[in-house]
Amino acid sequence: METANNQVIMQFPSKAANIGFARTAVALFAAQLDFTLDELDEIKIAVSEAVSNAVIHGYKGTEGLVTVTCTLIEGLLEIHIKDEGIGIADVAKAFEPAFTTEPDERMGLGLVFVKEYMDELVIDSSLGKGTSLTMRKSPWQTKVGA
Ligand SMILES: Nc1ncnc2c1ncn2[C@@H]1O[C@H](COP(=O)(O)OP(=O)(O)OP(=O)(O)O)[C@@H](O)[C@H]1O
Ligand SMILES: [Mg+2]
Repeated sequence: METANNQVIMQFPSKAANIGFARTAVALFAAQLDFTLDELDEIKIAVSEAVSNAVIHGYKGTEGLVTVTCTLIEGLLEIHIKDEGIGIADVAKAFEPAFTTEPDERMGLGLVFVKEYMDELVIDSSLGKGTSLTMRKSPWQTKVGA
């Protein structure tokens, strides 16, 4: 499928109700490329995990803005998810399986899934300023040149 470059920017308050919106909206945007249904499911999970983290950890129940930018460049999907919340004290630790700052409530697996399901993941976080995740994925078909 020949796909033109494209971009959608979404911004919404950090309400749990918007997690499902972002997940579905990004999957619809991603469907412009030749992703398989399994790949679209992986994208949905990665987006839910990243937006949930912004809502739950970034803003901790206070209201702030989450910005999700989806870009198609040369057959590659890039998703940028940003909050201006508390930031992450130790980014390397945050990626460890089962590491969570809320051990009674959570499993500490969200970022592990994001890393697993996307081709590339770059995280930028500073305490008191916020966190952004840039993730990239291209369809398997494109990678094998099918
Ligand atoms: N956007 C964010 N802002 C602040 N802290 C974050 C953010 N994203 C992740 N973290 C920190 O990194 C930790 C690990 O995140 P991860 O998503 O892997 O696990 P979790 O959210 O704690 O549990 P789960 O995702 O399984 O519900 C979190 O517990 C939190 O301390
Ligand atoms: Mg999480």
